[in-house]
Amino acid sequence: MKILGIETSCDETGVAIYDSERGLLADILFSQVKTHAKYGGVVPELASRDHIRKVGSLLEGALEKADLDLKSIDGIAYTAGPGLAGALLVGAGFARSLAWALDIPSLAINHMEGHLLAPMLDAREGLEMPFLALLVSGGHTLLVHARGLGKYEILGESLDDAVGEAFDKVAKMLGLGYPGGPIVETLAKKGNSAAFTFPRPMINRPGLDFSFSGLKTHVMTTVINLEDAELNRSDICRAFSDSVVDVLSIKCRRAIEQTGVRKLVVAGGVSANKAIRRGLEAICQDLESEVFFPSMQFTTDNGAMIAFAGYCRMKLGESDTFEDQVRARWPLSDMNPPAT
Ligand code: KG4
Ligand code: ZN
Repeated sequence: MKILGIETSCDETGVAIYDSERGLLADILFSQVKTHAKYGGVVPELASRDHIRKVGSLLEGALEKADLDLKSIDGIAYTAGPGLAGALLVGAGFARSLAWALDIPSLAINHMEGHLLAPMLDAREGLEMPFLALLVSGGHTLLVHARGLGKYEILGESLDDAVGEAFDKVAKMLGLGYPGGPIVETLAKKGNSAAFTFPRPMINRPGLDFSFSGLKTHVMTTVINLEDAELNRSDICRAFSDSVVDVLSIKCRRAIEQTGVRKLVVAGGVSANKAIRRGLEAICQDLESEVFFPSMQFTTDNGAMIAFAGYCRMKLGESDTFEDQVRARWPLSDMNPPAT
């Protein structure tokens, strides 16, 4: 079974082909970072237009890389939400019309389910559900108990900013450019951990929810109160990063202790962060639990995770109905197991 995956939910156009026999045959990505960088964040209208410009040629590239022609594709999976409505419509329109023309099924995929399954694309042995998942991206911070495909219980989530969003906003305050995560990570490595101590929001409250907007405001007031000459960006990034690592580690520890589930999957763009990886590895080691991360190329948005999620569901016979629509908001808790 060969599934084409199309991702256009935000500022990356991803096209990939997953084969049930041979694994990932092609995974092509075009990042719009240059288009949006000068605005300091994603401009939705520009994102949609760029997806339209790129998706066709990326498909040609993926077919060439996989040495296949369109007729050998068995199904098309596309991101239907959550994300920017206009951007989602480009991928959905493209995928569904192509599937209709080829007379093959299409399937709407939840982007966060794509992230959740991404570590399975090339996981070491032992990664099957049930597991806990910490999903950390630009739009979401979720702690999930994944009991099976489509059976997702949300244990905790951010009440305000997502972690990735907080990284991006801190970078913007410090004039570091977009996207902020990788730049803040690089500077944090050079920073002195004793220079500042920032708050660890929500750790003293019971439960598994997160909040990052107070931490972001704390960074802002710190920056405003410093004279230009005193502003050491690396130290600020380090204090911010240390706080995020602590908060995520404390909440994941709590989730493992509360549920007794000893497998933790960490995925989404922020899971590329090495300091966060090290923090979570340490708590998992301490709790005799296993931790799984996606390979670096599957941390941020990509078509491979959508093709793979499509394969997991389509092999059980699931496909779109005529009424399926894109959903700018599509909580993971609204997912269902595949309708077989
Ligand atoms: O999953 P993703 O590509 O897109 C969404 O679904 O939102 O995540 C993008 C987010 C951005 O906020 C970006 O700054 C963050 O992931 N990110 C990182 C790192 N690499 C990407 N955050 C912290 N450290 C990183 N190395
Ligand atoms: Zn994403």
